[in-house]
Amino acid sequence: MQIINTIADLRSALKNQENIAFVPTMGNLHAGHIQLVEVAKQHASCVVVSIFVNPLQFGPTEDLASYPRTLEADRKKLKAADTSIVFTPTVEEMYADFDGKNLNQTMTIIPPPIANELCGAARPGHFAGVATVVMKLFNMVQPSVAVFGQKDFQQLFIIKQMVKQFNLPVNIIGVDTVREPGGLAMSSRNGYLTNAQRATASQLNRALQGIVQSVKNGNRDYSQLEQQAKSTLNSQGWTSDYISIRSSLTLLTASNADTDLVVLGSAKLGNTRLIDNLTFNI
Ligand code: PAF
Repeated sequence: MQIINTIADLRSALKNQENIAFVPTMGNLHAGHIQLVEVAKQHASCVVVSIFVNPLQFGPTEDLASYPRTLEADRKKLKAADTSIVFTPTVEEMYADFDGKNLNQTMTIIPPPIANELCGAARPGHFAGVATVVMKLFNMVQPSVAVFGQKDFQQLFIIKQMVKQFNLPVNIIGVDTVREPGGLAMSSRNGYLTNAQRATASQLNRALQGIVQSVKNGNRDYSQLEQQAKSTLNSQGWTSDYISIRSSLTLLTASNADTDLVVLGSAKLGNTRLIDNLTFNI
């Protein structure tokens, strides 16, 4: 496994590779990330994993400074998973005009309006930051396949839109969310939870499961189901942000005519913002 920090070295390491599978990450790797690597390996013998905590996708009051950086442990996990190349650029390497504190001169991708809903409503600019760094990483790695977790359903949707609308020659693959035994979706941010919070954190997943069951049982009053799930979570000590039933094809608010659905939720336990979603058909 090669560890590479610069774009020039990455390009020279990859110049004879025709078929590259790519897994972009922000590090602090868990079993969900390793599952992405396993899927990548099914598509190409050369698997590149990037580890880069992207400042452009964090809001001014978010956890950029405290985001867990665990490079040594990450390297061991990636080596054990047979990764070919780990790309770990600095902020200066990724953003050439970064002056040490301002990224506001950086050219960015403007995502479609759906990026301002759901997680984007609480995190203005987040998906512009994600789309921009993913576009840059695609240009550096030039993969034929890129693998993302379904846990970030809205992110996966926006990246698929970017690939389609900018005609990028990359096949985007979404991988099912890996969960803890109780149902909690694996996330680097789970590390912020106290033991007591961790014991109740699967309530978010249960709230979404309850909605899926109700819809499958014939309840079509989506806004009532969303409100009820939010109230339940709030009464359990969460601060819910959104619970939303959407078309999984368009990510627009679901109508009763839609049959491919996704229920997405975001809520805070203490200061930790967790997200989850479930796709289903009726
Ligand atoms: O999902 C993530 O970890 C990040 O948003 C990504 C795709 C690596 C871009 O920074």
